[in-house]
Amino acid sequence: MRVLLLGSGGREHALARALAADPDVTDLHVAPGNPGIAAIAAVHQADITDAASVTGLAGATAADLVVIGPEGPLVAGLADAVRSAGHACFGPGRQAAMIEGSKSFAKQVMESAGIPTARARTCVTSAEVDAALDEFGPPYVVKADGLAGGKGVVVTGDLATARAHARECGTVVIEEFLDGPEISLFALADGVTAVPLLAAQDFKRAHDGDRGPNTGGMGAYVPLPWAPPGLADEVMGTVIQPAIDDLRRRGIPYRGLLYAGLSLTKAGLRVVEFNARFGDPETQVVLDRLVTPLGGLLEAAAAGSLAGAAPLTWAPGAAVAVVVAAEGYPGQPASGDLIEGTDQAQRIPAAYVLHAGTAADTAGRLVSSGGRVLNVLGTGPDLATARATAYQAAAQIEMRGGWYRGDIAAEAAAAAI
Ligand code: AMP
Ligand code: GLY
Repeated sequence: MRVLLLGSGGREHALARALAADPDVTDLHVAPGNPGIAAIAAVHQADITDAASVTGLAGATAADLVVIGPEGPLVAGLADAVRSAGHACFGPGRQAAMIEGSKSFAKQVMESAGIPTARARTCVTSAEVDAALDEFGPPYVVKADGLAGGKGVVVTGDLATARAHARECGTVVIEEFLDGPEISLFALADGVTAVPLLAAQDFKRAHDGDRGPNTGGMGAYVPLPWAPPGLADEVMGTVIQPAIDDLRRRGIPYRGLLYAGLSLTKAGLRVVEFNARFGDPETQVVLDRLVTPLGGLLEAAAAGSLAGAAPLTWAPGAAVAVVVAAEGYPGQPASGDLIEGTDQAQRIPAAYVLHAGTAADTAGRLVSSGGRVLNVLGTGPDLATARATAYQAAAQIEMRGGWYRGDIAAEAAAAAI
């Protein structure tokens, strides 16, 4: 099978690594990729926001399967263009991707499918905003309606801050605050059938102790030893399958990865958000444990044949990912800083490094080129070992202004959740 993977982050490096390990994947092409991906796949310079550029490359590489990583191209309709050009595609079309592209559309789906989520109001005028803030009370949760790269949500006890964010965003969804640990559950879907991957936990806030601004995610781990037994089945039955069924009834089959962000509140599980693609950095730890070859699974999802797929198999043990970020992230990140120590990190047994925001400078040296620069992975028989390995490896990385959270998976490893 010839696969073309689109994207350039840590998620795509993890996807490329898993696809390269699938014996049925004979050719792996990635656009635009990054220096880490270039070491394991053929990297091409295509503009993935341009459908003609992508379908041209899919044709030139005779791709049997196109896998779309990031949400921007999905929401713009790239999967539709790829399918129209005659290639199987893993990724929802434009309308189905609106489950991530519009918070208010996601709420409509949840309402019509009876999926548990925070009570919410979609607001445009300042009078609507004030009424909703008053109705739900603090802590205030204000979400930009459209795509915001993980930075559209403000959770604050301060009314003026909540109002100001609403004013900046235009259309917003204001909702009740959900109090409980958050998890991410990903499901592969083929329009009808859905198959869950391992549940993971992400760390959205910038700083230790869940302080500071929201980010795209600063680290992740699997498994979740503290999660209630049967969690994945419950999420499949109450969230994922109802969403897939609702979209199908709307005439929008969902083919790709459906990401449910969930809060486990005292009153039961609630959906915080849906995303239309693999989460980043959760994918890095989830795929680390996947034994079933990934290419065949993504192909089955694209072809509508997931119902016939064998049950997934997972490696026992744990994986922890620590995100090394650039100075200034999640605001304006610095770029062009020299990155050293990746070889030393990879020499630590059971550790490896995935590239997220990296580039090669004119002299061929590795430099930073994005907010989240590297994902340092540690694996092991249990979370405490995997975590110690990840941090030992992260300590090898040297980059001016580089930083990372020190508490990824700490509570879970200490059985303190
Ligand atoms: P979202 O983009 O909707 O996932 O929101 C980003 C982050 O904001 C989530 O991962 C949560 O940590 C936080 N958040 C979003 N909605 C709520 C809510 N209703 N209650 C509490 N925290 C929330
Ligand atoms: N890690 C959160 C996300 O991918 O949206």
